[in-house]
Amino acid sequence: MSKIFQIIYASTTSYLYTEKELNNLLEQSRTANLKIGITGLLAYKDGNFMQTIEGQEQKIMELMLKISRDTRHHGIILMFKGFIERREFSNWSMAYLNLSGDSSEGFSDFLISDKSEHEKKISAGKAKTLMLNFRKIM
Ligand SMILES: Cc1cc2nc3c(=O)[nH]c(=O)nc-3n(C[C@H](O)[C@H](O)[C@H](O)COP(=O)(O)O)c2cc1C
Repeated sequence: MSKIFQIIYASTTSYLYTEKELNNLLEQSRTANLKIGITGLLAYKDGNFMQTIEGQEQKIMELMLKISRDTRHHGIILMFKGFIERREFSNWSMAYLNLSGDSSEGFSDFLISDKSEHEKKISAGKAKTLMLNFRKIM
C-alpha cells in the first residue's frame, strides 16, 4: 500500500463567512473528496481557515493547486507537507469545526507569515498537534 501524503495549511478569508457559505463549501468538498479517497479536517475561526488534507500524493497535489487558486480565501501558509504512516482523519471525508468566538489559543499563531525556517519547522509540529487535538472534540 502506498504511503499517505498530507498537507496542512492556514489561510484567510476576505470577509466573515456565514454558516451557510461554510456548509456549501463543506458539502462540495465532502462529495468530491469521497470520490477520490481524500480525508481531512477543515477548521474555521473568525475569518481564518486551517485545513488538513490527506490521501494519494498526486490527488493531494492536484487538490492543493485548486484550493490555492480558490478566490474564497487568500494568504495561504503551508504548515506541513509530507508522507505520513497512516491517515489521521480516516473517518472523515472532511471533518469540520467552527471555532468562531472560541477563545482557545493556538489558531492565530499560524497566520504570521514572515517566519524563519527554524520557526516554520517548529510551527509544523505545533500545527500537527493542534489539528490532532481537534480530533478529540469532534
Ligand atoms: C478553505 C477551502 C477548503 C477547500 N477544501 C476542499 C476539499 O477538501 N476538497 C475539494 O474538492 N475542494 C475543496 N475546496 C474547493 C476547491 O478550491 C475547488 O473549488 C474545488 O476543488 C472544485 O474545483 P473544480 O471546479 O475546478 O473541480 C476548498 C476551498 C476552500 C476555500
